[in-house]
Amino acid sequence: MRAALLRWYRRGMRDLPWRRQVSPYRTWVSEIMLQQTTVAAVVPKYEAFLRRFPDVATLAATTEEDVLAAWAGLGYYSRARNLRRAAGEIMTRHDGRFPTDYESVLALPGIGRYTAGAILSIAYGKPYPVVDGNVIRVFSRLFGLRGRPKDPAFTARIWRKAAALVPKKYPGDWNQALMELGATVCTPESPSCGACPVSKDCVAFKKKLQDKLPLPEKRRPSEDVRWSCLWIERNGQVLLWKRSARERLLKNLWGLPEVGRVTATAGRLLARASHTITHHALDVELHAGALASDALLPPEADWTPRSRLKERLVSSLWLKLLRARVFERAPSAKIAS
Ligand code: ADE
Repeated sequence: MRAALLRWYRRGMRDLPWRRQVSPYRTWVSEIMLQQTTVAAVVPKYEAFLRRFPDVATLAATTEEDVLAAWAGLGYYSRARNLRRAAGEIMTRHDGRFPTDYESVLALPGIGRYTAGAILSIAYGKPYPVVDGNVIRVFSRLFGLRGRPKDPAFTARIWRKAAALVPKKYPGDWNQALMELGATVCTPESPSCGACPVSKDCVAFKKKLQDKLPLPEKRRPSEDVRWSCLWIERNGQVLLWKRSARERLLKNLWGLPEVGRVTATAGRLLARASHTITHHALDVELHAGALASDALLPPEADWTPRSRLKERLVSSLWLKLLRARVFERAPSAKIAS
């Protein structure tokens, strides 16, 4: 079964930029990006990120704001902060060389057992297991294991299975073959069992349970969030607001100020956008804002030239709002409704 899966992977693996040339740094960056983001969204960002930060030293020497700007649109921005912090630790604690032992890799910020296993197996050929959503689904079906993908007891069982199966030879190819199978053949909906290299060993396939395993996730309802934000412009500069660590969403990131945070009046509606961020459905309105003449700006507020907005407004939410491009026009009925 393992040989069949490896053969299938080597014959048909997708040509992805982090596979053309393998290094711990390249594997690390790609696996962090891939954690909550699809391959299609990651590829262009990955290539741009590596051009901008070709190695650990460059990443360690940059500012947090630059790394966040390079991460724009990928979401889960603490991933970018941790990447930069970990690069700093590699410079100071490991002489600028990516550590090679599991414990040291695991100790780096933002690296858990998934990423540690991926880096060690793919870049160093060490036999550590890797379990992500794809692997959980593949093993659940292959071995007929009933459970929900987010149930800790179930995932612990899958990790034990993965650890027992990872081969000493080519562990990186094996781990990637499992993830690749889950991403392209053993998909959540309507898996392509006819194209599967291991269907003859698959318990779910034999029992026609491939659409029943793993068990469905318990649905968590998303919460509605409404924001009213202000577009306050003066001499070609726009007032931005640095959101604190205590915010529910978009913590520690620049945004447009919400109504009530600065002494300003909200005028006409300029744009509106909907955006989803982990279990939250946001509905954001943007109003023209006029700052009170005697307004004292708190330290969170900062004037930013229009040309530099995209460096600070990294969440796609702001892009959606700004793309509406209604600032110079009279409000149209469509936008105002
Ligand atoms: N998903 C996340 N990492 C992957 C990898 N290395 N190969 C295939 N799919 C993946």
